[in-house]
Amino acid sequence: MIEISTSILTVEKEKATKTFYDLEVAGTDYYHIDIMDGKFVEKDTREMMYEYASTIKHISNIPLDVHFMVEDIKENINKYIPLSPSIITFHYEACKNDEEVIELINYIKENNIKPAISIKPGTDLESIKKFLPMLHMVLIMTVEPGKGGQKLIPETVAKTKELKKYLEENNLETYIEVDGGVNKDTINMVKEAGIDIAVAGSAIINAKDFKQEIKELKYC
Ligand code: DX5
Ligand code: ZN
Repeated sequence: MIEISTSILTVEKEKATKTFYDLEVAGTDYYHIDIMDGKFVEKDTREMMYEYASTIKHISNIPLDVHFMVEDIKENINKYIPLSPSIITFHYEACKNDEEVIELINYIKENNIKPAISIKPGTDLESIKKFLPMLHMVLIMTVEPGKGGQKLIPETVAKTKELKKYLEENNLETYIEVDGGVNKDTINMVKEAGIDIAVAGSAIINAKDFKQEIKELKYC
């Protein structure tokens, strides 16, 4: 069975605390926190996401799944360490070289957080293969990072399958997460590709009944 990580990117401020509470009751496995810096992607969600993540820490024990779409990765990691996220994901494309990737993985681990790397739809698997044994998870972007509510790009499902095959062939236990455009129409495609965690934002946040939506995504 897969786990569901709910992206809170589109949660409205006025309803935020109640929404976070309702998501816990509905059985989300993680809160997915999308941090954008206005440089790696156009939007800047740093302030709002920090406020949301801090609120969640006060009211819930459900783990935080932090997704950094930022250029200054270390600076942002430092901001989130006090919130003890379960997983920190950063983008391969935001790193200068392989040494920086390895340094960041180690830094995240030293702080007792699980490290993950994300790749954009246009980035090849080949570029991250060497890091897989050091990683807890790979986040395959199934849309271009930057905003919620987009359509899943079908080619990214083939890439997800290829990653699953590679992990199995090499006896690696790295998790696979997909992010973007996951809903009831696309969930089976990504499940068949062998994922462990699906991020869903608008599909859950716009649903009338969070619990029913999460249940359907998990079990359908
Ligand atoms: C996109 C974000 C995603 C996104 C998911 O840059 O990383 O987490 O908000 O939202 P939906 O499920 O609406 O595509
Ligand atoms: Zn995300």
